[in-house]
This record gives sequence, structure tokens and C-alpha cells, in this order.
Amino acid sequence: MSEAKNKPHIAVLAGDGIGPEVMQQALRVLHKVAPEVTYSHGLIGGAAYVKYQQHFPTATKKLINQVDAVLFGSVGGPIEATDSPQWLNCEVNSILALRNHLNLSVNVRPAKFYSSLANISPLKNHLFNACDEILIYRELLGDIYFGDKRSFKVDGQVVAEDVASYNEAQIKTIALQAFESAAQRSGKLTSVDKANVLETSRLWRQVFNQVAKDYPQVELSHMLVDNCAMQLILNPAQFDVIATANLFGDILSDAASALPGSLGMMPSASFNDKGFGLYEPSGGSAPDIANQDVANPMAQLLSLAMLLRHSLNKDAAASAIEQAIEQVLASGFRTLDISESTCQTLGTTAFTDQVLKQL
Ligand code: IPM
Ligand code: MG
Repeated sequence: MSEAKNKPHIAVLAGDGIGPEVMQQALRVLHKVAPEVTYSHGLIGGAAYVKYQQHFPTATKKLINQVDAVLFGSVGGPIEATDSPQWLNCEVNSILALRNHLNLSVNVRPAKFYSSLANISPLKNHLFNACDEILIYRELLGDIYFGDKRSFKVDGQVVAEDVASYNEAQIKTIALQAFESAAQRSGKLTSVDKANVLETSRLWRQVFNQVAKDYPQVELSHMLVDNCAMQLILNPAQFDVIATANLFGDILSDAASALPGSLGMMPSASFNDKGFGLYEPSGGSAPDIANQDVANPMAQLLSLAMLLRHSLNKDAAASAIEQAIEQVLASGFRTLDISESTCQTLGTTAFTDQVLKQL
């Protein structure tokens, strides 16, 4: 993606909930594998609100415009506090605004299956063993997420509206990335939509069929989203690369993350048309388990690995992190979300200690 520099500098936006504690572990790993990479911390989400009364303050905007990549934690507060000023619209004002600000239209979420976690998975063994990795390409700047929203009254009834919209260019951008990726992998691409009902999905399908003409080596198939949710559970090994719209991608990536064991293991990368990248765990801020040293740091560490590979051209450092994690799991260490009676459950810090030991 972007050109590797001798002295790369990244922005670290830890955010809320478990964000700061897993980010702290990612920075320990960064020091070990790529000490030449420097970073600056920026405030985002509820953490930024405390200081600036804004979820995405100007200081953070300035910072991210000057760096080679962004490593992001998570944002958002407890569900019972969503109406307090600190948390009201926090996600929309911070992470969604940030994606929009950086024009990050392509989101990539790998659900990787580790052979040592077969017993953690909700899948039966034979289904699990047939799986390797499912890569989800999620369009990130269109759909019902960014269309007009409003509430109004009709005949004394409150009505709420969220408009879902896509233009051809938006769909083509994500399609090209998904086809490129599929061409380099198994050659199988599943585009997921709801074309039996939605106009946006019909356009989505048309554009994918159009782009497919330039990729004769890729076998494109279309699947309706409700069927895809079922197929992910019944026979996940049929999928390699999935491409889908913003809302469907949000939902399907959480579902897919549970198959290898836990959402706490799923990283993600988001890119704009210049290849600039932001890297974040696919899961949320999990305030219920924050500050207890129990959160799984894997998603954050693997997001760091994706950053090193795609934004800084440091493939060896990225692979080192991924292999170290695999080793730690194979050695029988777990975090609470993937704990097994026959294994040793470690906290966030102690699990990362084991990763560092392998590096
Ligand atoms: C994700 C998250 C976000 C999203 C939230 C925090 C707005 O669920 O990255 O999947 O819906 O995109
Ligand atoms: Mg989500």
C-alpha cells in the first residue's frame, strides 16, 4: 500500500472500554518487532469527550493527517449510559466520522481458523477442520450507515427513517478490491446482497457482474444475505472471499468471527483509494469487561500485524506476530473468551507476555 519509509510514524487512537488495555499490549509488541516505528497518541470517542467535549477533536484530525497509518482501539460506552453526553452518538461521531474523514471505503476482516481451537468453535469438528480463513470485504462508506436519517411525526405517530444508498462508483471500488484478492487466493468470490428485495442490492449485483468480466480467473457467485447467514453456520468451508455492503458486512463479520472461536480474535483493515490504512479490532469496546485485564488482545495484535504488512511493508514483522500468536495458542494458553478446561487461561497482559516470549 503506502510506501515504507525509514522512520515510519503512526497514530495510536486507543479510545474507550478495553481499547486502552489491549492497545498497551500492542505497543509492547510493536517495540519488540519494529522498534524503529514511532507513534503519537490521539484521543477519540468518549475519552476525547472528557477533554474536548467532542468525540473526534481537531487535534486528532491534525494528527491522523500527518501519519503513515492509524492503529485504532475501540469506542463507545455502556449500553445503559448511551444517553449521557459522553456516550450519546459516540460511535457515529468518532469511528464513523473518522472512516468518512479518511475516505476509508474498503474494509477487510479475516476470520482465521486456528487448528488448536477446534474445541472452542461452535462448529462440529469435521466442519471446523475444512476451514482455513474467510476473508470478508465490507463496503464501509455507503448504505444505510451514511444515508439521511430523520425522525418526524405523521398523524401524531413518530416515524424514523434511515436511507440506504449506493452509487456505481462506490460498489465498483469494493468490487475491484475483492476481485483482486480472490484472484490471488482461491479464485472464489461470493458477493452477498438482498437483490430479491432491495434496489441498492440490484445495483450491487449489476456492478459485480460487470467487474467480473475483467476477472475471468475468478468464479463469482451471488448469495442472498439471509441464506449466507445460514450457510456460514452449515458449511463455512464453501467461502473464501466474501464481498458485501456496509450493514450486511457488519452483521456477517460478527457471525463469521464466532466460527473460529471469538470476536476477540478478529482484526480488520480499512483503506482509502490512496492505500492509506486504519487498523482496528472488528469487535467493540466491551465496557463490561474493561479494566479487568481479561480482554483478548489478539484482535488488536493482529490489527497491528496487518498495519505493519499493508501500510509499512514490514511483512516479516507482521508474520512474526501472527506466528507467535499461533504458537501461544498451540502451547495451550487461552484468554477468558476462548478458555478450555484443559488449557491455561491468562489475562490480557500475561497472554501478551507469552506472545513476546515467542517473538
Ligand atoms: C464495527 C462496529 C462499528 C460498525 C460500530 C462501532 C459503529 O460494529 O466496526 O463493526 O457498525 O461499523
Ligand atoms: Mg460491528
